[in-house]
Amino acid sequence: MCGIVGYVGHGRALDVLIGGLKRLEYRGYDSAGYSLQTDHSLTVKKCMGRVADLENMDPGPAACATTGIAHTRWATHGEPSTINAHPHSDSTGRISLVHNGIIENYKSLRKKLLKKGISFDSDTDTEVLAKLVGSEVEKGKDLFTAVKDALAQVRGAYGIAVLSADQPSTLVAARYGSPLVVGVGQGENIVASDVAAIVSHTRNVIYLEEGEIVEITAGAISSSASDPKMSRDRIQHVDWDLAEIEKDGFDHYMLKEIYSQPESLRNAIRGRLDMEHGTAHLGGLDLTAEDMQSIRRIVITACGTSWHSGLIGKYVIENLSRVPVDVEYASEFRYRDPVLEDGTVMLVISQSGETADTLAALRLAKKRGIKTFGIVNVVGSTIARETDAGVYIHAGPEIGVASTKAFTSQTMILSLIALALGRAKGNLTRKEGQSICRDIMAIPDKVESILAGSEAIRDISRQFTYANNFLYLGRGVNYPVALEGALKLKEISYIHAEGYPAAEMKHGPIALIDDLMPVAVVAVKDAAYEKVISNIQEVKARRGRVLAIATEGDREIENLADWVLEIPSVDDMLVPILSVIPLQLLSYYVAVARNCDVDKPRNLAKSVTVE
Ligand code: F6R
Repeated sequence: MCGIVGYVGHGRALDVLIGGLKRLEYRGYDSAGYSLQTDHSLTVKKCMGRVADLENMDPGPAACATTGIAHTRWATHGEPSTINAHPHSDSTGRISLVHNGIIENYKSLRKKLLKKGISFDSDTDTEVLAKLVGSEVEKGKDLFTAVKDALAQVRGAYGIAVLSADQPSTLVAARYGSPLVVGVGQGENIVASDVAAIVSHTRNVIYLEEGEIVEITAGAISSSASDPKMSRDRIQHVDWDLAEIEKDGFDHYMLKEIYSQPESLRNAIRGRLDMEHGTAHLGGLDLTAEDMQSIRRIVITACGTSWHSGLIGKYVIENLSRVPVDVEYASEFRYRDPVLEDGTVMLVISQSGETADTLAALRLAKKRGIKTFGIVNVVGSTIARETDAGVYIHAGPEIGVASTKAFTSQTMILSLIALALGRAKGNLTRKEGQSICRDIMAIPDKVESILAGSEAIRDISRQFTYANNFLYLGRGVNYPVALEGALKLKEISYIHAEGYPAAEMKHGPIALIDDLMPVAVVAVKDAAYEKVISNIQEVKARRGRVLAIATEGDREIENLADWVLEIPSVDDMLVPILSVIPLQLLSYYVAVARNCDVDKPRNLAKSVTVE
């Protein structure tokens, strides 16, 4: 949510800021702005719309500035507009501030400032913070101290970068609850909400701690944390390939990411399967076989697509290990009083590692003495750092707002955990474990073969360009796939879609079915096959149109469904990693045909760092 970049150095700040914002635009894209510092003054430009619109604005003489901050916004307080866009200024216009997060007590702070005669132009919580910093500066404080004292009055979440016209070549940044990273260069430093904005300049980064405030100049970074001089041990090296954050010839990041799944799945599996013993080793979990044996219950917490992979995890873990699993929406878990008995562990799933609700659920579990394990993509993210141990899914940067490769890699990691637990608990024999290992190893090639048939999926998708509603059905381990298929379609094509366990259809949703209602059904040859066929018959009897995701070579279904997309056969518990692929492609092609902005769907943003 919202992207922040700040630069201080010897280069043209504007280029670094615009380049950085383009990399961060997936975090929010309703408005954008920057502030550039020159000769004891600040030049602020902002606009509604995309970073490209901001780039077209004329910065005047500030174009040669070497210090600046910038922002791309996902609105929380106040509609998207130029006035509400960041940066916001203090009353004198000598302070500029960009912010990601929410200031929860902004109303009471605003009242106090109004009483002091300070007026406001925007509807945002951020402007309150800018004015607050300004009022601290007016007391004669330097920028660092003013920011520190202003933040001491604030309740909420923030990642901020602040400039003062009176402190040249210096910026102050701080974080609490929203991510912020400092890129450490040679005679230049960059601060950003995500390393994506930094890697083309330097690969040496420092992840700021919760509550940390830093003062950044071209040659130094000093911090409010216990190590004020920021020793070099805090520097971590980012080893991404820049190509990973480029579109690489694909029309959209989402398509590139769908196509990169054979590779991302290979990365998830690499070095983790033990064919000889028919098990998996996930070093990051730091669990011995005895530790695993002592696990009595697992609570999985996550949001959105990550929650769907968690739900698949429930089916797979319970099936392979007989350990009971509860799957909780992080936003619900955090606000109730969950029962967490001895022997319970928590798996926290998050692509970004920054989702506010997931982070809060994790913190609640830790407070209650529960051991927590992360299944995270973004290395060094808050959830990765705060969980007791964890596994990186190694999917590489996911930039398309709709999550695809992270989902399949999360599901793969959950299958590896299920396998390891199943073996440790003695629920799976070595031979059974070896057979699952073989099936897991074959998955990336099978994904490749589904992708090779994408033309057929594109052709079929044309049928649905003008659909208004869509139903997705699946049973057992494929029920979460139905949920995920529906989510993918609605978020990028704006077609209303619902996912249901197939048998639930007759308890209500069947009323919606007519000849205009497409129904996508995961109908693979697994234990539930016959039942799913009956559900398809029920749809057909009401003149519904059925798109079936079926096992290669299934002739029976061809006579029943209107359209069939085939996937290779695989162990029942691993099917979701394959059955979701045609559904990802389907939603992609439908959205493209409807002229939707696939990578930046309306109202959405990647990395939901607000509640
Ligand atoms: C949907 C999507 C979201 C995220 C959710 C959790 O395509 O991307 O539903 O899955 O916001 O995000 P993470 O996994 O970053 O915690």
